[in-house]
Amino acid sequence: MEDPLKLGIAGLGTVGIGVVKIVQRHAGVLATRAGRPVEIVAVSARTKGADRGADLSTYDWADDPVDLARREDIDVFVELIGGEEGPAKAAVEAALDAGKDVVTANKALLAIHGQALAERAEAHGACLRFEAAVAGGIPVIKALTEGLAGNEITRVMGVMNGTCNYILTRMQDAGLDYQTVFAEAEALGYLEADPTLDVGGIDAGHKLALLASIAFGTKVDFAAMRIEGIERVSIEDIRQAADMGYRVKLLGVAQMTGRGLESRMSPCLVPMASPLGQLEAATNMVVLEGDSVGQIFLRGAGAGEGPTASAVMGDVMDIARGLRMSTFGQPAASLTAARPAGSSAPAPYYLRMSLVDKPGALAKIATVLGEAGISIDRMRQYGHTDPSAPVLIVTHRASRTALDEAITAMGATGVLASEPVALRIEEV
Ligand code: HSE
Repeated sequence: MEDPLKLGIAGLGTVGIGVVKIVQRHAGVLATRAGRPVEIVAVSARTKGADRGADLSTYDWADDPVDLARREDIDVFVELIGGEEGPAKAAVEAALDAGKDVVTANKALLAIHGQALAERAEAHGACLRFEAAVAGGIPVIKALTEGLAGNEITRVMGVMNGTCNYILTRMQDAGLDYQTVFAEAEALGYLEADPTLDVGGIDAGHKLALLASIAFGTKVDFAAMRIEGIERVSIEDIRQAADMGYRVKLLGVAQMTGRGLESRMSPCLVPMASPLGQLEAATNMVVLEGDSVGQIFLRGAGAGEGPTASAVMGDVMDIARGLRMSTFGQPAASLTAARPAGSSAPAPYYLRMSLVDKPGALAKIATVLGEAGISIDRMRQYGHTDPSAPVLIVTHRASRTALDEAITAMGATGVLASEPVALRIEEV
């Protein structure tokens, strides 16, 4: 058997301890599969001595993750500290500069500094792998870089923040408003320390930016993504969308168009009966479309000790077996700067509005839509006791620009009782 692959693990939170447990529990099978043992040599965390639910007594301790990253006796630096700057970035850079392979679950670090880090890794002959950063336990990066390597990828979509999917499905199932369910999610410990990362769509946006880079061979460009969170999704919209046959999801979509790279993370409607529409609780789903393979769906746990540690170990095992994949699936120098598309591809839209209940009000709205070239697919007006009438419209495909112009023009008609809500309907 070959020499052991020696790991240094920085960060002993949920995921770090999950990795320790897998290495200890499956030592035999890991060695058999890789043809060499996989061993932990040293670990590092903010506080020493805490009971973390795993035996760490045989590992060396490093107070400073940068020191751990540079140790002569480790082959792979496993970064599970998190954060786009600070010790995580310093330690990953130190490991790469020392020619160590790096495995990380750090989506923010890769989404912001991915190109520079990929170039740094290649300059030092090191691997930088991040399967655990995207959709937790789902091996989506492996699917894109390996299984689908013979395809031109046409679109990547996904529900990739479990907390948001939990909040939206709980609102739907229990008929509760956003604030109530947000408080529940907080009490359950589902939210990141900075909840905006979750509900503001940033965490999911980081993941989509990474997938887009691999899918389209472009330099990761988080700043170019259009991001909208779920904070303004109301229980009314969830109810009315359901009435029209849809579910509301925080959905990421990236596709290369003639106008450039379109990438957005936003609350969208998807058909209730579709795999995305059926996605419950904190589960993640990624949809990959390739010219030869067609559409495939990957579904699984997007967070948590076991699933995320499983993804980390997938990368570790590739390195142990001598599989040395480029960070974004192709040499860093060959990644191109994507031109962001100025506008989104036309789509059907859901429009919810309250109209002043007087003769001709609905006709005025229909006229405004018609003048903007937007055709109505379906429409519903609900019985009401309020002075204003709740109206729902599902349009045929329309451009967002035309829709925004129509919404502005609606304001001038004097028949709107409140600002209309417009949500894109994603065709899946
Ligand atoms: N807060 C994230 C989620 C964890 O809810 O999916 C993984 O990024």
